[in-house]
Amino acid sequence: MEKGQATGNDSLTVTDNRTGKSYDVEITDGTVRAMDFRQIKVNEDDFGLMTYDPGFTNTASCRSNITYIDGENGILEHRGIPIEQLAENSSFLEVAYLLLYGHLPNQKELDDWIYEVTHHTYVHENIKDFMDGFRHDADPTGMLLASVGALSTFYPEARDVNDEFQRHVSAVRLIAKMPTLAAFAYRHSLGLPYVYPDNELSYTGNFLSMLFKMAEPRFEPDPRIEKALDVLFILHADHEQNCSAAAVRVVASAINDPFTSVAAGVAGLYGPSHGGANVAVLKMLQRIGSTDNIPDFLEGVKQGEERLMGFGHRVYKNYDPRARIIRSHVDEVLEATNKESPLLDIAIELEKRALDDEYFTSRKLYPNVDYWSGIIYEAMGIPTGAFTVMFAIGRTPGWTAQWLELMNDEEFRIARPRQIYTGSHDVDYVPVNER
Ligand code: CMC
Repeated sequence: MEKGQATGNDSLTVTDNRTGKSYDVEITDGTVRAMDFRQIKVNEDDFGLMTYDPGFTNTASCRSNITYIDGENGILEHRGIPIEQLAENSSFLEVAYLLLYGHLPNQKELDDWIYEVTHHTYVHENIKDFMDGFRHDADPTGMLLASVGALSTFYPEARDVNDEFQRHVSAVRLIAKMPTLAAFAYRHSLGLPYVYPDNELSYTGNFLSMLFKMAEPRFEPDPRIEKALDVLFILHADHEQNCSAAAVRVVASAINDPFTSVAAGVAGLYGPSHGGANVAVLKMLQRIGSTDNIPDFLEGVKQGEERLMGFGHRVYKNYDPRARIIRSHVDEVLEATNKESPLLDIAIELEKRALDDEYFTSRKLYPNVDYWSGIIYEAMGIPTGAFTVMFAIGRTPGWTAQWLELMNDEEFRIARPRQIYTGSHDVDYVPVNER
């Protein structure tokens, strides 16, 4: 046995058939360390064995105690508390505190936290000029991405990433200002004047005011919509190591402040496979147009011509628990807005048929959070172009908590993956006129 590293039952013995040598590798928490394979070499000059995992489908990149997902059984917990209990009993700001600080706040902590967030919602006036520089039809997510990154230039002290106060106040600023930036981006895209935050309103009530207030002296949010939006934000608050959280951690690992790192999260969210999926769902439902067209649409999906957007998830191989909770608020929001959603009937029928279809069940494709969120946003009067910014507001506490956890991680190292080089070698440069 070569270079035994681990003994006992919690180990893995691998034999390199190229050399006939065996190696013991320690198993901790059901995981082996990729670096333990580096010792496996055919000769001394060999670099050593690497692991290959495109899309990180089977690689844990960190230890985390923020969010737990059991995808097979459709379970999601934040700091151990099931998402169903949080959606039922908590508020978005309380969940944000829980994610960041690891425990539910007591009454004083909660009051202080809400006060702090409420009193950091204003943005520097220069941000308005900055927003005005965008084209009239600029995508609000692109505007949000740029303006969150720009916040780092307004708070250069946040680069002192080891300062406890800076960490805290940056988290407060991010959670407080994200709705303001998102609402400004939305109003810009409609050519409407920006609405300043109203400290008398709740977090979601103020956001609705910044989106929709016109000439009235004070915007009065409908409490049912305020509540539904708060639940939506809770459901998006964190989701462990997804594409955007991983982007936040990778950027943060170069010792970047939370604003710069969270901008990377917004960028990750922008894509249709992640935060842009709810827009894709609505477009898909609009394209289907009528329940009569569902069979043809599903046939197209099975032929690989289309994707059933809002279905499938890398981790959930069961009904996404967030989708179930959102679904339960759809009717309430439609009632509050006094609207009928022509797309709702199509969505209900499409879901039913897909869940009865062997193609989807055999691949464990179930509705995810984005299947229903678009329908709710649409009923609230939010245009599709602004859906992803809604997701970004909800996810901000999660990104910030991931940032904070990384900064406190004893195994903190800059993220630097390896590659398998498949290109050429020793190619001579050819002057342009000889090519
Ligand atoms: N419609 C049709 N077939 C699908 C779908 C879908 N939405 N999703 C996966 N499949 C099929 C896929 O073609 C493959 O089939 P086969 O084994 O025959 O090749 C199989 O299911 C496995 O799919 P995969 O692409 O290997 O799965 P993945 O884990 O790489 O992708 C996903 C996950 C979310 C990108 C994908 O399911 C998808 O594109 N879904 C639609 C987009 C969407 O709703 N995204 C929102 C995700 S939830 C929000 C969030 O947390 O960010």
